[in-house]
Amino acid sequence: MARVFVTRKLPFPALDRLREAHEVHEWPGDLPPEPEEMQAGVREAEGLLSLVTDRVDAQVLDAAPNLRAIANMAVGTDNIDLDAAAERGIPVGNTPDVLTDATADLAFALLLALARRIVPGAELVRSGAWRTWEPAGDLGADLAEATLGIVGWGRIGQAVARRASGFGLDVIHSSRSSGVRLEELLERSDFVSLHTPLTPETRHLIDADALSRMKPTALLINTARGGVVDQDALREALTAGTIAGAALDVTDPEPLPADDPLLDAPNLLVVPHVGSATVRTRARMAAMAVDNLLAALDGRPMPYPVK
Ligand code: DGY
Repeated sequence: MARVFVTRKLPFPALDRLREAHEVHEWPGDLPPEPEEMQAGVREAEGLLSLVTDRVDAQVLDAAPNLRAIANMAVGTDNIDLDAAAERGIPVGNTPDVLTDATADLAFALLLALARRIVPGAELVRSGAWRTWEPAGDLGADLAEATLGIVGWGRIGQAVARRASGFGLDVIHSSRSSGVRLEELLERSDFVSLHTPLTPETRHLIDADALSRMKPTALLINTARGGVVDQDALREALTAGTIAGAALDVTDPEPLPADDPLLDAPNLLVVPHVGSATVRTRARMAAMAVDNLLAALDGRPMPYPVK
């Protein structure tokens, strides 16, 4: 039996399989462990089940001399220092594929919500301020015949494209190896949806210059990582009307403090990193993380290694 540190209470059936095979220590807090608590948690651990909210950096790895496996319950791994793990010979696994549809659905939900002004409309009704059907009130943007620019052409970007074709959108994309140049995508798109991992190259990919290339009627959707967008530049662009609106499932940091100036920007919708938050998807993610740990702690290759 190996000792495994699980960084949050995970109420999914897969955890029973882990408990049957190993000595599982679950972080009892409702919030992620602080860095010192993380280091204490991994001190004697051979396995670590981490979440996107956990920083697994060199300091954490140095505090974990016995660590043999890290299973991140996420497809993104920007919370883990992969080089530091590789230097120490610790395999890292993630949870690709299972959250593709859920995340693409959310990107589309945000796009529709923004384009059709769902949240302001609902607020109008709830506050009693809605007076009557107005011929030219609450007008949104059509999806059919509009152009959707997808930045990043991985599984999730392509799943968004499939949804878009059903809505009559023209889709263009930009990625390192295919599609149009980012500048062209930004200039041509009515809606821009971000689907790149966060890397040193994609940090602040959408900066003031990128935003200035977008149409003043364009909407920006980010379900990737908060760090892909320069949020100061976004606030300025929304305030100045350089673009018409933005919807973010992800921010930097998470959560944004309630007094963060970005939250006062007009036509901004922010939801709490719920791209993968469906009952089935989260259960499958937990199962994959457990499968990764069980294999690695048993001396076998992880079925879902980070590539
Ligand atoms: C991921 O998996 O990377 C998401 O951001 C969290 O589900």
